[in-house]
Amino acid sequence: MIFYFSATGNSQYAAERIAAAVGSRLISIGVALRDGKFDYDISDDAYLGFVLPTFADTLPGPAARFIEKLELKGLGGQYVFGVFTCGASTGEEGAALGYALSQRQIDYNGSFDVVMPDNFILWSNLPSEERINARLDAADRSIDAAIKVILARENGKIPSRGVSRPFMPMDSISTAAGTAKFHATDKCISCGLCEKLCPMSCIKIEEIKPEWEGECSLCLACLHRCPMEAIEYGDQTLGKKRYRNPRCELQLINNY
Ligand SMILES: Cc1cc2nc3c(=O)[nH]c(=O)nc-3n(C[C@H](O)[C@H](O)[C@H](O)COP(=O)(O)O)c2cc1C
Repeated sequence: MIFYFSATGNSQYAAERIAAAVGSRLISIGVALRDGKFDYDISDDAYLGFVLPTFADTLPGPAARFIEKLELKGLGGQYVFGVFTCGASTGEEGAALGYALSQRQIDYNGSFDVVMPDNFILWSNLPSEERINARLDAADRSIDAAIKVILARENGKIPSRGVSRPFMPMDSISTAAGTAKFHATDKCISCGLCEKLCPMSCIKIEEIKPEWEGECSLCLACLHRCPMEAIEYGDQTLGKKRYRNPRCELQLINNY
């Protein structure tokens, strides 16, 4: 069984390719969190995988919360791995996943890194389409290499040191100042997609426009996937291109 968390499709794409290659079932952590589903029977599964984006060099808050609550029946004998998609480089998220799993008495066979287009546009701009495609081609090669190691049940990257931050806290840059910065412009057509997509259920359509409150993980699904590009983060995203992995079919509803 492979669990994935994905706001803009990079991790979903990697998870889908790996699941197809190793013959594994796929579960969306975003949907599971919203549905409150944490118990899974993995008795017949040869693999237990977590395909996640890197957040601030560590685990996304929602993924850490999901692992904390996970109840697995039939655990034992699975090859357990992590795959981290990232925009530039990976930090200590492999070690953070190892730590989160060790807290649940789950042994870990290591992780794999896949550099993909960076969706964190609060501080920077997306690269050109050409550079995005070149990066996606390189990512395909990294995914192929990871699949080979996973199928051979050899170890991935095993953390050699401890973790300073086990996950990106959901009240760091987000809740304190950040959710206040999210807003919908007049382009908003009140379609409600952002409310349905939010893995932390912090968007509510009040009156006509969405309002943000609560534990936002800053995954940016709402901002990137708004069909009208009506969602902004302060003035930091004004005029910037949005990103959705072009090789992945992101369904609009309930397939976060
Ligand atoms: C809140 C946040 C923090 C991020 N931090 C990092 C980081 O520390 N290093 C990095 O290389 N990429 C970082 N990124 C970029 C994402 O890890 C990368 O674009 C990832 O592939 C997105 O996956 P997704 O499309 O499945 O959501 C960050 C993105 C977000 C939204």
